[in-house]
Amino acid sequence: MATVDLLKHYIEYITSLTVLLTILLLVGPILYTVRLERSIAAKTIPLSGVPGCRRLGLTGRSNLSGQHEQQSSSNDGGPRVKALFTYPIKSCRGVELAAAEVETTGLKPKEGFKVGFADAFPVNILGLASVRATDAQLPPSADVKGKLDARRFRANIYVSGIEAFGEDTWKKITVGRRIGRDKDGLYECDAEYHVACRTARCKLPNVDPDTGIKDSNEPYTTLGKTRKVDKGAYPHPCLGMQTIPLFERGIVRVGDVIQVLESGEHCYEKMFA
Ligand SMILES: *[C@@H]1O[C@H](CO)[C@@H](O)[C@H](O)[C@H]1NC(C)=O
Repeated sequence: MATVDLLKHYIEYITSLTVLLTILLLVGPILYTVRLERSIAAKTIPLSGVPGCRRLGLTGRSNLSGQHEQQSSSNDGGPRVKALFTYPIKSCRGVELAAAEVETTGLKPKEGFKVGFADAFPVNILGLASVRATDAQLPPSADVKGKLDARRFRANIYVSGIEAFGEDTWKKITVGRRIGRDKDGLYECDAEYHVACRTARCKLPNVDPDTGIKDSNEPYTTLGKTRKVDKGAYPHPCLGMQTIPLFERGIVRVGDVIQVLESGEHCYEKMFA
């Protein structure tokens, strides 16, 4: 009889609320730590070979991979197309191309998305030397200093072979070829672009194109000090140029020579008063 009583008493004891709570408090954190360690371990598993996953960042194949070493390089035979990007959905990751068809509304993405006037104007052009010069102007304390990525500025055509901010004075250029048709059939010739105005900048370049993490200041703060160069765009800083294809159908390739047909002063026309 005594053993049964003792057992009853024991069961009562371990089912009492205080004891249950004590057990939970002791075992809970241990289980949680184990789970946490597992999820951290999962994150450090190398992604290659995991279906549906891909590494972030510039791949070795990107034509912008060497952008940090490349300073102003007017020694490599004048302006050239260094890299091409389309943005299938606005604000989304750019898609790098080796060649692109160009329509009046901009570079045609490979995937067949229809994008018109992706960011106010059809084609955004930016010199890599301008990005490097902006990087050099960043304060030493800036996290992005020394590694400011040109992709933050979401240009369609990245240009090598010009001095920093050399594109600022372009008014008419040719890049790639355009295709036309007349009574004798199809023909092709230099594709002309009207350089409409400087590209006014918002804070979006503060966002890292790989991680989506936004720096609270740079490069916007520095651009605000050094690149309020267009009184029409004021109070916005400017970097790069907005251009309009002067043809219906053309093609542009990495490595294409850029000819500057006209240069001169620019003053941004306010779109919204
Ligand atoms: C870089 O440019 C070359 C042409 O010079 C091209 O063949 C290659 O595919 C480009 N790379 C990417 C990632 O587009």
